[in-house]
Amino acid sequence: MHIHRLEKIWIGFGLIMLLVFLLLTGVAAFAFGVSPPSSASGHEHMEHHTGKVDPTKLKTTAPFDKPGLKQIGNNEYEAVIIAYAFGYNPDPLDIPLGAKVHFIVTSSDVVHGFEIPGTNVNFMAEPGEVTEMTHTFDKAGEYLVLCNEYCGTGHEMMKTTINVK
Ligand code: CUA
Repeated sequence: MHIHRLEKIWIGFGLIMLLVFLLLTGVAAFAFGVSPPSSASGHEHMEHHTGKVDPTKLKTTAPFDKPGLKQIGNNEYEAVIIAYAFGYNPDPLDIPLGAKVHFIVTSSDVVHGFEIPGTNVNFMAEPGEVTEMTHTFDKAGEYLVLCNEYCGTGHEMMKTTINVK
C-alpha cells in the first residue's frame, strides 16, 4: 500500500504540472493575441509589397541603382535602401526634421529585417521583393536601424543610422 500511495502522489504532481503548463501557454497566447507587437493605428504604418526585383541586378535597376534620399514633395522624400549581409546602403542616412519619408527597401542577398526602434517602422527586407513603408520624423535625433531577422554571422552587427535634423 505504501508504493500505491507514492504513485498517487506522483500522478497528482504530474497532473498539476500539466495544468500549470497549459495555463501558462494559454495566458501567453492570450497576451500576444490581445496586444500584437506593433498595433498599427493607421494606413501609414503598414508596410506594403510594391513590386518584384531581380536581387542580382540591383545596380542597374531603378530605383535601387541610386540608393539614398530623393525629394518628391514639400518635405516629403523617398528613401531607397538596399539591405545586404551585413549592412544597409546608404549608411548613414540624413533626413530633414519633420520629413515624411517613404522607405523603399529590398535585399541584395538574404532576408533581413528593417526596424527603427522607437517608431512603428519594422518590416522585412526580402531579396526579390520591394517593400515600402512611410514614416514621418517629427523628432530630431539619431535613429538606429536594426536587422531583426537572423541573416548569418554578422547579423548582430548589422545596423545603420538615420540622422534627423
Ligand atoms: Cu541582416 Cu540579420
